[in-house]
Amino acid sequence: MSEKPKKSEAVEEPVVMQKLVSLAKRRGLIFQSSEIYGGLRSAYDYGPLGVELKRNIKNLWWRTMVHEREDVVGIDASIIMHPRVWEASGHVAGFTDPLVDCRACQNRFRADKAPTAEDGKIRCPNCGSGNLSDVRKFNLMFKTHLGPVEDDSAVVFLRPETAQAMFVNFLNVQQSYRLKPPFGIAQQGKSFRNEITVEHFTFRSCEFEQMEMEYFVPPPQYSDEGKGPDYWYDYWRKLRLNWYTETLGIRAEKLRLREHDAAELAHYAKGCADVEYDYPWGWGELEGIASRSDFDLTQHQKFSGKKLTYFDPDKKAHYLPWVIEPAAGADRTALAVLIDAYDEEPPPPDAKGDNVEPRVVLRLDPRVAPIKVAVLPLVKKEGMPERAREIIRAFFKNGVNAFYDEKDAVGRRYRRQDEVGTPFCITVDGQTAQDQTVTLRYRDDMQQDRIKIADALETVTKKVMAGGRDVRKPG
Ligand code: GAP
Repeated sequence: MSEKPKKSEAVEEPVVMQKLVSLAKRRGLIFQSSEIYGGLRSAYDYGPLGVELKRNIKNLWWRTMVHEREDVVGIDASIIMHPRVWEASGHVAGFTDPLVDCRACQNRFRADKAPTAEDGKIRCPNCGSGNLSDVRKFNLMFKTHLGPVEDDSAVVFLRPETAQAMFVNFLNVQQSYRLKPPFGIAQQGKSFRNEITVEHFTFRSCEFEQMEMEYFVPPPQYSDEGKGPDYWYDYWRKLRLNWYTETLGIRAEKLRLREHDAAELAHYAKGCADVEYDYPWGWGELEGIASRSDFDLTQHQKFSGKKLTYFDPDKKAHYLPWVIEPAAGADRTALAVLIDAYDEEPPPPDAKGDNVEPRVVLRLDPRVAPIKVAVLPLVKKEGMPERAREIIRAFFKNGVNAFYDEKDAVGRRYRRQDEVGTPFCITVDGQTAQDQTVTLRYRDDMQQDRIKIADALETVTKKVMAGGRDVRKPG
């Protein structure tokens, strides 16, 4: 079924967003889902370059959170879980948004996001009418049925977060992997929320990917001196904020950590902070870091009737660990990375030919860039294409995503790579056959070095791995 966005949801995006959405479609980063049928509200498809970008982000997260640590392991759990999981977690009763219908224009919207008139009453954000239905609670979980019978006993939900699988598998993982708190269980995967308001391109959609980790720590009375839940909460807040700059190359001044005030905290939470990005429409959440006490394990112990305590052989005590949870979104991160990288350079005063247009450049960190290096023959003759293909094969074999392009003048090809953030271009030219060298062009300042073909793979690989916003410096 296709559905056109309702007027109130067709948010007038800032110009940079309009440019980015158009670039995303034109260059195969992100498409509207089911576009030929008019598009499906709130769903997006990643194209050939988008899938690489998002995969790079997820791989970098996995590397930081799992592979580079002794104390965190991963799982990959089912999207459909036992329905009691969502009763225990509180999602059946409490994962709701306040929904209102406008009787004048039939628009549906979230009461907490609607404008308020002078009399203090809310108004329809679409037509301004005050003729509204009562506010009712709308559960955000997608319901479906398991098996052929569509009755209440077969109701299951698509998970609205990946986190619950880590709680439910706490003992399976702890015992099979012989882990001792503090330790973490990480997962990446799709989550689903029937959001009433979808907004800002992929920022809020109904189907999205999360990257979550539950870090199980001894409760305060069994913690080592100075290493209680508060210590770990502080530790993960700092580490997660830094990840966005150090690993993804997002500008530090566009990021902040916002601590929730008491009114925003769930009754069991000991603290919660959001990593926020300064999006073109204002500050918005990228990731939440929550100190959740033993709420989740207590709930699952109660609802499942199974003991979930850990026996600490040193402290000679059985306890339910407390949890610190860094919960990030892969799609929101990809969007922030793209927004942060988008740049337009005005043409130089003496510009000619292809250079009269502003240069659109995605200043992506090489680690997240979809294509790491483009290999280009200067012209389609004199053995240059063959030589370029030989060079690119070395990148392919070594797992470096490289792109071959021989169409159009080389200046236009450079521009095409600049606008999708390719940090390096290698060009085979007339000199190559004589001295086995090629040019290495840098995306950011367009300068070129002459390097030996024999060094090309190592030079590019080192620079990609070094990362950083200035692609010329590292390596
Ligand atoms: N287990 C905790 C949890 O799910 P959350 O703050 O609701 O916390 C974590 O979600 C992250 O998931 C958010 O910071 C955001 O990056 C992403 N996310 C949540 N809802 C989303 C949506 N509708 N569309 C895109 N990303 C979303």
